[in-house]
Amino acid sequence: MEEQLNSVFASYKGSKNELIPVLQDVQEEIGYLPEEAMRAVSRFVKVPESKVFGVATFYARFHLKPRGEHIVRLCCGTACHVRGAMKVADKVKDVLKVEVGETTEDKKFTYEEVACIGACGLAPVMTIDDKTFGKLDPDRTKSIIETFVEEPEGGQV
Ligand code: FES
Repeated sequence: MEEQLNSVFASYKGSKNELIPVLQDVQEEIGYLPEEAMRAVSRFVKVPESKVFGVATFYARFHLKPRGEHIVRLCCGTACHVRGAMKVADKVKDVLKVEVGETTEDKKFTYEEVACIGACGLAPVMTIDDKTFGKLDPDRTKSIIETFVEEPEGGQV
């Protein structure tokens, strides 16, 4: 990890106002923000650890735990909720054996629930990585996820 951190730090001066971009680059490099990395960032930008941890937990774009190879995001906005998103959510949790915010043991999937993603006409909707799947029902959802288990690109249903 030290090498990865040093390669990120090499492009910065180590000043306070670089905190967020440094955290972003560290996350990009390592995949998430382990505690050890945040401590190193704190020393580098000369910002107290408590502030670094505070920023990392405040912004949804920062992840404090390792994430899966595929990110499954289910919309739980009003339109999706009304059209059965909760049944789809139960199916996703059942198939992946995770709760919201967790990553599967094999590190293949991370499951998140999000607010409206602007595709209400297709409700209920989920995305897996950059692909969008609409008009979901529990069975179809299971089949879609299974295509990602078999094929890294998935999505052919
Ligand atoms: S409420 Fe789900 S896409 Fe808008």
